[in-house]
Amino acid sequence: MDKYVIKGGIPLHGEIVVSGAKNAAVALVAATILCDEPCILENVPEISDISICIKILKEMGADVKILGKNTVEFDTTHMTSPVVPYELARSMRASSYFLGTLLGRFHEAYVPLPGGCDLGDRPIDQHLKAFACLGADYAIESGTVHLKTDALIGNQIYFDFITVGATINAIFAAVKTKGLTIIENAAKEPHIVDLANFLNSMGADIRGAGTDVIKIRGIEYLKGITYAIIPDQIEAGTYMVAAAATKGNVLIKNVIPKHLESITAKLRKVGVTVEEFDESIRVSVDGPIMKTSLKTMPHPGFPTDMQPQFSTLLTLAYGTSIVTDDIFDNRFRYVAELRRMGADISVDGTVAVIQGVGKLTGAPVKATDLRAGAALVIAGLAAEGITEIDDIYHIERGYETIDEKLRALGADIKRVYYPESIAMTS
Ligand code: EPU
Repeated sequence: MDKYVIKGGIPLHGEIVVSGAKNAAVALVAATILCDEPCILENVPEISDISICIKILKEMGADVKILGKNTVEFDTTHMTSPVVPYELARSMRASSYFLGTLLGRFHEAYVPLPGGCDLGDRPIDQHLKAFACLGADYAIESGTVHLKTDALIGNQIYFDFITVGATINAIFAAVKTKGLTIIENAAKEPHIVDLANFLNSMGADIRGAGTDVIKIRGIEYLKGITYAIIPDQIEAGTYMVAAAATKGNVLIKNVIPKHLESITAKLRKVGVTVEEFDESIRVSVDGPIMKTSLKTMPHPGFPTDMQPQFSTLLTLAYGTSIVTDDIFDNRFRYVAELRRMGADISVDGTVAVIQGVGKLTGAPVKATDLRAGAALVIAGLAAEGITEIDDIYHIERGYETIDEKLRALGADIKRVYYPESIAMTS
C-alpha cells in the first residue's frame, strides 16, 4: 500500500524527459510474437503494464532479455503456446492484443476476456468481427476467448465506430495473412502509425496507417530489427498540464509536438504559453487560467486520456467550463476525489460542468484509474497543503518514475510505504 504524499503550491521549473509511449509499447511488445527472428525494442517505458506483457510472453515460452535501461530483446521464435494465463490477462486491458498476434502466428488463441474496468464496460465485439472477417471462428468458453482457423484470408473490415484496440488487432491478424486486407474507419492514433512503422521495418506491407483506411498485403516472414518506440503523447500532455496548473515553466523533452497539437491548442486557449521546438515543448504561465469548453474525440481530436488532467486545470480557471467525454461510459470517477480537494464540478452522464474555484486544498484521495490518478497528482501539486494519494498502482501502470521526474522539477512529492493497518485507520 504505497501512497504519494505531495506538499503542493510549488511552481514546477526545469526540464523533464518523456518516456516511450505506453499505448505503443503494449502493442509493439505483443507484436514481437509475429517476428520470425529476435528483435530489440528501445525506449521501452519501465511501467507495470509492460512488466505484465513481458511476463505473459515469458509464460508462453518467449525469451526476453533486458539489455539496458529501456532496451529489451524479444525472442519469441521458440514459443509454442497460444494460451495467455488468466491471472496475468485480467489485470491489463491490452492483453487483448495477444488475440490478434497469437491468431496471426498460430492460427489459434486462448485469451481470457479482459472484463469490465474502471472506465466502464469495454466490449471486444469489433475485435471479434475483424477476426471473423479474416476467416477465424470464435467462441467464449469459461471466460476465455478461443479463436481458431485453418487459414486466414485477406478481406475488407469495416468498423462500426472508431476503435484503437480493434484497429491494432486487425493489423496483427492481417499482417501475415494471404491477400489484401482493407481496414475502413480505422483509428488514427500515433501508436497505430508507430505499430505500422515497426512492422513495416520488419518487412510487412502496411499502407495508410494514420488515415482512416489501412491496406495490408500479407507477407510470410518478418525479420528481426532494432526499433525505438515513440515518446508518450499522454505523459507529455500530463506534464504540460502540471506545469500550467502550478504556474510553472517547464521544458518537456523527447516529444513529437505534432502529436500534442490538440493539447497545445487547448492550453493556449485557456491562457497558457506553449512554445514548440523540434523535439521539445516549453510550457509557462504568466496570467490567469481561463475557462473553455472541451469535447474528447479520437485522434487528432482532444484525447480522452487527457480529459481528467485538463479538467483538473479547469477547476483552477476563471469561469465555468463544460467538458464532454463520451468515449467511455465512466471517465468522471475522479470527480468525487477532486471535490474532496475543493473542486466545484457537477457531472450529468458524460458531461461535466466545472465552476472554476481558483485554488484547491490538499486532502487524502484515491486514484480510481490511471489518468484519474495523474489528475490527482496534478491537483496535489497545485493545491495548498498536503495531498495523500492512495492506490497509486493505477498511476504506475503508465507513468515511469513520475515521482522522481516531478521531484527534479522542484515538486515536493514522496512515495511513502503505508502498512495496511495504518492505511485502514488513516
Ligand atoms: N468499443 C466497443 N467494442 C469494441 C472495441 C471498443 O464497444 O470492440 C468501445 C469502447 O468500449 C470505447 C470505445 O469503443 O467506448 C473506444 O474504445 P477503443 O477500442 O478505442 O479503446 P481501447 O483500445 O480499449 C485505447 C487505449 C486507451 C484509450 C482508448 C481511446 C490502449 C492500451 N488503450 O483503449 O488508453 O483511452 O484507446 O483512445 O491503447 C489509457 O492509456 O489510460 C487508456 C485507457
